[in-house]
Amino acid sequence: MAEQDPKVRRIGVLTSGGDAPGMNSAIRAVVRTAHSLGIECIGVRRGYHGLITGDMEPLTPQDVSGITSLGGTMLYTARSAEFRTPEGVQRAADICRFRGIDGLVCVGGDGTFRGALELSKYGISVCGIPATIDNDIACTSYTIGFDTACNTAIECIDKLNDTMKSHERCSVVEVMGNRAGYLALYVGLAVGASAVLVPEKPIDYKRDVIRPIREGQLHGRTNYAVIVAEGAAHATEVAKIVAEETGMDTRATIIGHVQRGGRPTVRDRVLAADFGYNAVKVLAEGMTNKVICYDGQKMFPMDIVEALKMKKDLGEHNYSMMETLRSGM
Ligand code: F6P
Repeated sequence: MAEQDPKVRRIGVLTSGGDAPGMNSAIRAVVRTAHSLGIECIGVRRGYHGLITGDMEPLTPQDVSGITSLGGTMLYTARSAEFRTPEGVQRAADICRFRGIDGLVCVGGDGTFRGALELSKYGISVCGIPATIDNDIACTSYTIGFDTACNTAIECIDKLNDTMKSHERCSVVEVMGNRAGYLALYVGLAVGASAVLVPEKPIDYKRDVIRPIREGQLHGRTNYAVIVAEGAAHATEVAKIVAEETGMDTRATIIGHVQRGGRPTVRDRVLAADFGYNAVKVLAEGMTNKVICYDGQKMFPMDIVEALKMKKDLGEHNYSMMETLRSGM
């Protein structure tokens, strides 16, 4: 039983890559689950950079008290260029050994998991937790931060819609998602957008944006919301095309990094806690090179190599639902 005989004695926890609301809840769960199993926990600051520089300190259950409601990450986050070199990984592994760290929980996206895999080659047990507002990690249906980011975006767009209605305008809103359109599509569904542009789909402006607005105009509709993922197009360019082609008074808004902050929603807090709880159990049971995944019902560990090979599609169901429901009528 892992409870009586954990296979790791001292574990580190780090957050790496772009931050995501809910990361603090995951850190808290890692620290407290480790404590319950008699495993010491070290908080590593600034992701892999902190592993290379030895920027870390022990975390007690009391140190992580009251953080579930806080956005961002108490451990800070960074993208370390040095850790991408063999010398950097070697140094990080040496520091782990020197500090007696035999397991590491790495909270972040695909890049974070690739880093964990490199480190595992030096004998450190690793377990990844998926966290990114983009929800673009293939092995899991959910990543920490997505729900909060969606809620932040729809709050902004609901406000924009008020003023767009008053002035009978079209609003083109750029949301985050450099390589993935989950956020744009979900937000578009939630606000009843007239069009959603995502990096996964080639853009046909006439078919995807202009036609729904023209149809709406025929039915007497006077305000529209077009949602654009940042990796698909620039809001200003889309707004220009809409204005030229439809004659509508059009405004572009970029929501930007606001989406990465804020109080995590209940979904992000509870799922993040579950990811953290499971990650420590996995290390305590002697498993390594795992990512904790969520299939919509349960958490399960998957091999990191397998997880990194997977490709996530946008979800045709949601895309065709958006096309059917979009407000052009
Ligand atoms: O968190 C993911 C993400 O929001 C991407 O959609 C975006 O392109 C990227 O982070 C930007 O991150 P940063 O500004 O921190 O480089």
